Amino acid sequence: MVGLPARGKSYLSNKLQRYLLWLEYQVKVFNVGQYRRQIYRKMAEESGHKADQSSNFFDTKNAEASKAREAMASECLEDLIRWLKAGGNVGIHDATNSTRKRRKALADRIKREPGLKLLFIESLCTDPAVIAANIAVKVASGDPDYDGQPPEQAERDFRERIKHYEESYEPFDPELDKDQTWCQMVNVGKQVTVNRIDGYLQSRIAFYLMNLHLTPRSIYFTRHGESQYNVEGKIGGDAPLSAQGEKYMEALPELIKQKLGDTPLTVWTSTLRRTIQTASLLPYEKLTWKSLDELDAGVCDGMTYEEIAEYYPEDYNARDDDKFNYRYRGGESYRDVVIRLEPVILELERQENILVVCHQAVLRCLYAYFHNLSQEELPYIKIPLHTVIKLTPKAYGCDEERFTLPIEAVDTTRYAD
Ligand code: SIN
Repeated sequence: MVGLPARGKSYLSNKLQRYLLWLEYQVKVFNVGQYRRQIYRKMAEESGHKADQSSNFFDTKNAEASKAREAMASECLEDLIRWLKAGGNVGIHDATNSTRKRRKALADRIKREPGLKLLFIESLCTDPAVIAANIAVKVASGDPDYDGQPPEQAERDFRERIKHYEESYEPFDPELDKDQTWCQMVNVGKQVTVNRIDGYLQSRIAFYLMNLHLTPRSIYFTRHGESQYNVEGKIGGDAPLSAQGEKYMEALPELIKQKLGDTPLTVWTSTLRRTIQTASLLPYEKLTWKSLDELDAGVCDGMTYEEIAEYYPEDYNARDDDKFNYRYRGGESYRDVVIRLEPVILELERQENILVVCHQAVLRCLYAYFHNLSQEELPYIKIPLHTVIKLTPKAYGCDEERFTLPIEAVDTTRYAD
């Protein structure tokens, strides 16, 4: 990472980590600030004296501190390299790396490791409102740098720290840095410049970053209303809604209006009848996505859970042993669904308020991305019928609210996935 403090580097590192983990890469963030805090905490414990970690420490004229900061960034990088060599795929060096000299040292060190590739991601931010919001998060989040300090004093010191970095900051320049591989983002989502991007993974990362934005918004998830197959205990198929499902369809517009008021919304459904019917009375722009169709149960499509246990007992047990990887004969696994949902994730990042009306397994995959849940947890996430889940992205992670309408429905957690 490259950028001044309060430019959202840690935010971007965490988002990128979540995206790449979801795509099954081994990813780890190495934050230089955390190294500094750990080292100085240990020194303070040993000596009984707390070292000055205020803005003076970040003053470029403070030669001793500058040396210490270089050493910590390099120690953090060495740990990152060790971790990659032990099998990691993507290590994120979350630090300011704000001078050309520092970046050259990083690049020279990486060059000595065959097989490792370096991509710089710079967050350049000129919007004072975004900078102020990032400073507020740092000061209000109980950041250990400002432990116990009044917020005004913490903010003053942090702004002073930023000024010190500004004195020597050298953003990427198309001419001066033409030989490095970099992706420069200006005001997250407003402008992205890429230089010498090399290979599939770097292109994916650049493409992901291009789709991000910071506009506040919420993402709403709901399954379709109860379907006739749900009532019969069958999986898959393309059945219409049951009578209870139709009640949900009728009640949904009022619930959404209550929560959103006049805020614009786009509604996405799958191509299956039960989701299109559920969304049919919603007075918003609608889009149908094949990628949102339910996990394909292959030869088991249209069967009840009991029938699967009777006709395919081995499959039934194999699925219980490893639900994420189990692939229905002629159908899909959760892993397959995650892969086919990647364009949906990119589009969800790009959009503002969205309501996704789809299916249990698909919503589990989308939900796991937003809450950073593991593959083991993913197939067991509770997504009940007749419930709207509202996710509001925050600096780190998402806030969640659930609204359940009092319309009875069968419990499908055992089979309808
Ligand atoms: C820090 O110590 O908080 C950041 C160090 C840096 O990357 O400049």
